[in-house]
Amino acid sequence: MSKTVLFVLFLAFPTVTVADFLDDFLKHASDNPSCSEEFKKILACAQPHFELIREVYPKLNSISTLYNIGLMNKGLQLVENVTICLGEEKRDFKCTLPKIVVTSLDYAQYIGKKVYGDAFHCFINVNAIETFQICAAENQQPRNIHENVLNDESAYKKIAQPIVECMAKKMYETPSCTIDRIVELYHAGEAGLDLYYSLLKFVKGVQVERSFSDNNYCRA
Ligand SMILES: *[C@@H]1O[C@H](CO)[C@@H](O)[C@H](O)[C@H]1NC(C)=O
Repeated sequence: MSKTVLFVLFLAFPTVTVADFLDDFLKHASDNPSCSEEFKKILACAQPHFELIREVYPKLNSISTLYNIGLMNKGLQLVENVTICLGEEKRDFKCTLPKIVVTSLDYAQYIGKKVYGDAFHCFINVNAIETFQICAAENQQPRNIHENVLNDESAYKKIAQPIVECMAKKMYETPSCTIDRIVELYHAGEAGLDLYYSLLKFVKGVQVERSFSDNNYCRA
């Protein structure tokens, strides 16, 4: 299992460290000589930020960090700076892991802008993380369903739908959650579920049929 992808899935696997990530990334880089230029480019762009990554990353599995808008916006700025550094050539990346990193950065930016913008008032007042955990627990499915979802996106959506509805209900009951803010968070959640699904498939070795670099989301 690729620790680099686990790194991106930090919410699900909070024990992976930055050192694990770097080890794994470097190992992939040396295993794939034809991809080494793409790996090198990513490392070169991430390197100036290692210190901040080392500081922020271990804190990401704590709920209070996700509510720390200052720290999260700093993280988002880092993502943006790395993306700018990668330049347009990142769209031509051919190798799987570099492509996944680039796409995950895109998703992180899209989701981060929605959550840590105006909708943050609703996000924090509805206790979005805890509410998500409660909604997920209340709507838990038998384990065998989870195995099917990797080959069947509609099954995955079926599992996610009641959780989304449960979250929406809690938001409607929260005064700071205006319709506009709920819509923003809904788009962020949809993108998050999409990213999670694609990464999960990759980690489990299932072919990701939709090109990972296709961005289905408008950037408004
Ligand atoms: C991102 O880049 C801007 C402009 O160069 C710089 O001022 C800022 O400190 C950088 N932030 C991070 C977190 O790298």
